[in-house]
Amino acid sequence: MDVSQNGNVRNSESMCSVTEVEEIDFSKFTDRPTRPLNIDRQRSFDERSLSELSFSPRHSSRNADINFLRNVDHVESVYSPSRRSGLNTPMSHRSFEPHPLVGEAWEALRRSLVHFRGQPVGTIAALDSSVEGLNYDQVFVRDFVPTALAFLMNGEPEIVKNFILKTLRLQSWEKKIDRFQLGEGVMPASFKVLHDPVRNSETLMADFGESAIGRVAPVDSGFWWIILLRAYTKSTGDSSLAELPECQKGMRLILSSCLSEGFDTFPTLLCADGCCMIDRRMGVYGYPIEIQALFFMALRCAFLLLKQDNEGKEFVERIVKRLHALSFHMRSYFWIDMKQLNDIYRYKTEEYSHTAVNKFNVIPDSLPEWIFDFMPARGGYFIGNVSLARMDFRWFALGNCIAILSSLATPEQCTAIMDLIESRWEELVGEMPLKVCYPAIESHEWRIVTGCDPKNTRWSYHNGGSWPVLLWLLTAACIKTGRPQIARRAIELAETRLPKDNWPEYYDGKLGRFIGKQARKSQTWSIAGYLVAKMMLEDPSHLGMVSLEEDKQMKTPLRRSNSWTF
Ligand code: GLC
Repeated sequence: MDVSQNGNVRNSESMCSVTEVEEIDFSKFTDRPTRPLNIDRQRSFDERSLSELSFSPRHSSRNADINFLRNVDHVESVYSPSRRSGLNTPMSHRSFEPHPLVGEAWEALRRSLVHFRGQPVGTIAALDSSVEGLNYDQVFVRDFVPTALAFLMNGEPEIVKNFILKTLRLQSWEKKIDRFQLGEGVMPASFKVLHDPVRNSETLMADFGESAIGRVAPVDSGFWWIILLRAYTKSTGDSSLAELPECQKGMRLILSSCLSEGFDTFPTLLCADGCCMIDRRMGVYGYPIEIQALFFMALRCAFLLLKQDNEGKEFVERIVKRLHALSFHMRSYFWIDMKQLNDIYRYKTEEYSHTAVNKFNVIPDSLPEWIFDFMPARGGYFIGNVSLARMDFRWFALGNCIAILSSLATPEQCTAIMDLIESRWEELVGEMPLKVCYPAIESHEWRIVTGCDPKNTRWSYHNGGSWPVLLWLLTAACIKTGRPQIARRAIELAETRLPKDNWPEYYDGKLGRFIGKQARKSQTWSIAGYLVAKMMLEDPSHLGMVSLEEDKQMKTPLRRSNSWTF
């Protein structure tokens, strides 16, 4: 495949690798190769190299980062596809001493494996026998993602393939809640293996939200499924899984649910509260960053994986249009920094016409007090939500990290997000990485927003609690932005507590000093998140599985901000 001077792609070869496809300007989708993907692990690694780690020159002054960059060079020059990261498995031969915790974490992760008819198909959410199982005895789609990445990084892709295929089968179930039928594309939140001792048989039982609290369907599951399919393809070089007609169909079904036309005037996806990792009422309804960032990333992954055959072509066209509109919308309206905050503070209201500056009629009085102190002179982030007269200024960790990984954030915005994390370390990381959102909501607001939820009291659980699983996302974002020492600092903090506290699900308190009120112990994604963070830091080439380069054609002329340019 050649890229001509004007950026168009000429199909001079019959096959095209995923890395090559990634470099395609997707606004020119008609030039997109129609032939099957053939991903060569070695080749994709070569091309991944430093260009996938977008280091900004202004960080080159940091010694730790320079060393890290040298390390990346070293890793790349010695890499071979069959070679595993020294830290990857406690059993493997290695030339250095791994942290003793790594071996312990692998053992715990393997204990949580769930088998179906003799094959591993996932991991249980938590192995805590001291409390009632509730639904923690199930395999959650979102929880399995860090586990899947850990196994992929360790050269054990089978379980990931099994998981992808089993959840795909569950998607094709008829999904009914009372008398209402859910859309065909909905992926389960979780599933469980049922053993029938009489017949000596096993069946899978899925939950599409019908047994969840509040009966909310998991919007994030379908997105994670597509993201995982791309991670599997990228890591193994095996494109045959993604090319299976059933996988192509599964992707199209997910896409048709979220690309369908309605009454919306925004390119963002309208959601109910509780449809993502924050699965209880937390005011995360409307257009939450947690979903928009995943939506963006899943669209970009689907663009890479979808065949442009008769059925796929239409979707590719719709994806391209949506990506353009979505990136413009998010980068312009969800972004906040000192300059933008000051602009909102001075907003006029009741503006009418296309020249309106205050496009959503946001009333400056709705700015919360905390944000004036929280906003650093340098730094910025994507806020939680934007719609009519509503800006949810809370910080959400997952959405911001995914925005970096998917390149929804421009390189300048990526840098600004990392600057914010550094300058607001106490608030966002504290003594246990990482706050799921900041700040907590309290008192009267807590009553109204959460419906008096006793689990989500201030600085607990989803309401400003600290979730160790987020460590892998932070680490990936750090590596992508060339700031690995931030991840190192966070991992060191986690290592002082996690094993001692037996891998809790979350921590409570302003600084995350307390084991969460109702946190499970032996929470699988806390374990897997730690392992993935360690492995990525050890071998940064793993980043390619979960990271996408910025698409040049999506460059949005931002009307702000200069806060990161000094
Ligand atoms: C809780 C979390 C959710 C997670 C589940 C299983 O419900 O809020 O994000 O998937 O536990 O760990």
